[in-house]
Amino acid sequence: MAQNSEALLTVLRAQPVMPVVAVDSASEAVSLARALAKGGLKAIEITLRTPSALEAIRAVASEVPETIVGAGTVLNPRQFEQALEAGSKFVVSPGTTVELLDAAKDAPVPLLPGAATPSELMAMLEEGYSVLKFFPAEQLGGIAYLKALAPVFPGIIFCPTGGVSMANVRDYLALPNIVCVGGSWVAPKAAVAAGNFDEITRLAAEAVALRSAG
Ligand code: 3PG
Repeated sequence: MAQNSEALLTVLRAQPVMPVVAVDSASEAVSLARALAKGGLKAIEITLRTPSALEAIRAVASEVPETIVGAGTVLNPRQFEQALEAGSKFVVSPGTTVELLDAAKDAPVPLLPGAATPSELMAMLEEGYSVLKFFPAEQLGGIAYLKALAPVFPGIIFCPTGGVSMANVRDYLALPNIVCVGGSWVAPKAAVAAGNFDEITRLAAEAVALRSAG
């Protein structure tokens, strides 16, 4: 079955920036999700890069109703199933494998898989996938690379992640083939460690304003 792109685009179109976070505890994730939602960023991607990630997704799914929690850095079918079981509303992968696409078939939540080269993009179109992550965005060629792909793959829309910041985000969002960007800058580790969640709410609101400001 093809990608559930409508469900995915509903989440991705709602905000210019998807916070990409790696959390050390479930309680940290809950505070972070609340602070980001207060600033207007309701969807967040919790990456499966820390031992607490699944517990954190579960906690946010049950305790923060205003947040749409997704799982990131999902590399294989086992992690896909764990992410679903924890309550993820969407799943993000830095790349694509046949096994992962099989796991996503008929799943109740959409998959945002990564792809970058023209051959990978052609393979994804064959699979019925047109909403893709582009990671690591800056290292792969960033804005110039995505700009070059746009006329060749007009049906593909990206969420670039990796090296995106307030310094370059406007240029990414101005491209015709970008639905939103992913980034960790809206949830700095130092602010989380200091319990400075007001700062995270401020950064989230600043990110939300990117779209209204054009
Ligand atoms: C990551 O690799 O953690 C995400 O892609 C976010 O990247 P960033 O920290 O460069 O925003």
